[in-house]
Amino acid sequence: MSLRPILIHPDPRLKKVCAPFEGVDSAARRLADDMLETMYDAPGIGLAAPQIGQLQRMFVMDCSSREEDAEPMVLINPVVTWKSDELNVYEEGCLSIPEQYEEVTRPAEVKVRFLDLDGVMVERRFCGLSATCVQHEIDHLDGRLFIDYLSRIKRSMITKKMKKLKAERALL
Ligand code: NI
Repeated sequence: MSLRPILIHPDPRLKKVCAPFEGVDSAARRLADDMLETMYDAPGIGLAAPQIGQLQRMFVMDCSSREEDAEPMVLINPVVTWKSDELNVYEEGCLSIPEQYEEVTRPAEVKVRFLDLDGVMVERRFCGLSATCVQHEIDHLDGRLFIDYLSRIKRSMITKKMKKLKAERALL
């Protein structure tokens, strides 16, 4: 397992529609291991493959609140099959947009079909924070960021801050 650098917005790779996996092989499992390690190290509750520059449809998440209850999940080729009419507002953040948090409204519950690490097709229902997290991560696979739900002014303010952050990091 190894830690992988996380891309920071703006980056053209974060705007791409990612390609589906043909199947789940050892390379996919290695990628999942790296992504989980990178996510826990950050720390974050979700990480999508494009955030480490892999333009493939996979993300990892763990929305458990305590370390003892850790529930690492890997979702491959995820598809939302159902959304609730009821909506929920969460203050979202993103490892590719560090230290910026804004409220985003999304369906409160979703059903998602995906391949697990054994290549088995699974359908699961998510609610609460997990529902927001899966929708945020699936957006990444389609080149969409949570700031795309904000006003143009807010989005460009955040983008400006991130450009500054990247310039500062490049000097280190
Ligand atoms: Ni994100």
